[in-house]
Amino acid sequence: MMRKIAVIPGDGTGPEVIREGLKVLEATAQRYNLKYETKIFDFGGERYLKTGKTLEPSDINELKKYSAIYLGAIGHPEVKPGILETGILLKLRFSFDQYINLRPVKLYNADFCPLKDKKPEDVDFVVVRENSEGLYKGMGEFRNKGAQDEVATQISYNTRRGVERCIRYAFEYCRRRNKKKKLTLCGKTNVLTFAWDLWQRTFDEVAKEYPDITTDYAHVDATTMWFLKNPEWFDVIVTDNMFGDIITDLGAMIQGGMGIAAGGNINPEGISMFEPIGGSAPKYTGKNVINPLAAICAAGMMLENLGEIKAAQAVEDAVIKIVQTKLKSLAAGRMGYSTTEVGDLVVGNL
Ligand code: IPM
Ligand code: MN
Repeated sequence: MMRKIAVIPGDGTGPEVIREGLKVLEATAQRYNLKYETKIFDFGGERYLKTGKTLEPSDINELKKYSAIYLGAIGHPEVKPGILETGILLKLRFSFDQYINLRPVKLYNADFCPLKDKKPEDVDFVVVRENSEGLYKGMGEFRNKGAQDEVATQISYNTRRGVERCIRYAFEYCRRRNKKKKLTLCGKTNVLTFAWDLWQRTFDEVAKEYPDITTDYAHVDATTMWFLKNPEWFDVIVTDNMFGDIITDLGAMIQGGMGIAAGGNINPEGISMFEPIGGSAPKYTGKNVINPLAAICAAGMMLENLGEIKAAQAVEDAVIKIVQTKLKSLAAGRMGYSTTEVGDLVVGNL
């Protein structure tokens, strides 16, 4: 089967890490006899500065022809914060209704964990972040902008349908993952009494259909505490868009840093998009020092999503091997290898 993959290298170090991801994809495809073609799209800060365009409706239409999207990073120091993020990244997530942001938090080498005495078996969970609603919906307004009595509101928008499809996905994922079979709802029922009442009620109702899954609840503030103290308590966590954004940066740190953290923006019925969860890292751009493993792991997640389970596993195994035996650090500039060399190491261990 011929797959078409849309590649958006994007800004900053995006192109450098995507190049390594594509290198690994190519080598994996040869080994597992996969057929695919790629097309590079230049959406990002440079194109915006030249043309004033983020993503046009015609761009979205063009992307509909693809099986998956592989994204590097979006964010440019010369563009005001918010323009590229909402105009490109969030626009993609929303246009393709990628309502799940799946972010595995897995430690591959205890030496790279900032937590004392935590081993790979202690840091192994997955965050299922709602990816289409909540505070990210963009609802709100200014009143009396610029005046002394200015008011700015930003609304967290939660629909029963949106919450339920996310929670259901999390239960199904937890069952399929088949590890601790425990799903934790991460929220803030003690303060955000409308939104989290809906989440809690929906969670409790859906839970009845999954008697094999143990359920738990943790407030988001407590969740950050447990991430540091007892990460081994978690298996799968389901949460809203904003909390998911925040806790997965902390999750990335306990799995070894942004250099290794990958995620998928999933539409289980449509076109999904895979990306390293870190940003465009302008200060490391063009130096061949950025860690490409997050992008490589994102390519692995893409293979899994396309049904190529063995190929996906091979990519992860190769990453684990070099993280355990070769790299001196997962941080940019301190890996003991350049960006391109790390890509080559993964290929060599496939
Ligand atoms: C992420 C990023 C994005 C988000 C930004 C760049 C819009 O932080 O993917 O976690 O907030 O979702
Ligand atoms: Mn984030």
